[in-house]
Amino acid sequence: MDELKKYQKLVSIAHESLKEAYAPYSDFKVGAAVIMEDGKIYGGCNVENASFGASNCAERTAIFKGVSEGNRKIEAIAIVGSNGEKTFPCGICRQVINEFSKDAKIILTNSNKEIEVFTLEELLPHGFSKQDFLEE
Ligand code: THU
Repeated sequence: MDELKKYQKLVSIAHESLKEAYAPYSDFKVGAAVIMEDGKIYGGCNVENASFGASNCAERTAIFKGVSEGNRKIEAIAIVGSNGEKTFPCGICRQVINEFSKDAKIILTNSNKEIEVFTLEELLPHGFSKQDFLEE
């Protein structure tokens, strides 16, 4: 599959996942879809909580699904927000992406279906990772 088709598929799964978002407090729904190194795709949505700090972003829901199935390397992740604008991953999600990839592609889209691709390095320069404190 060429890169653009792959990204469009991820965007479409992220849109599907957005429909499952549980966001009664912010009313801002987010969907994400991550493709891992073995080609498996996992969708995820934000899951909020009455104790706000217990909420989870869509990106982390998708990533944790993949990691809990044994995958350890993110190839790309698409993110879709319910406001129709491109939704950038929050800082915590950038850090979680960084844990499982140094060269992940981050795909954003808007209601015009324009796609913009960023590298993790662009969104999280000088990220902190296990190489910074564990011996190789
Ligand atoms: N949210 C995400 O799911 N991903 C992002 O990249 C940005 C924020 C969620 C968290 C919360 O449920 C709602 O959007 C408003 O912050």
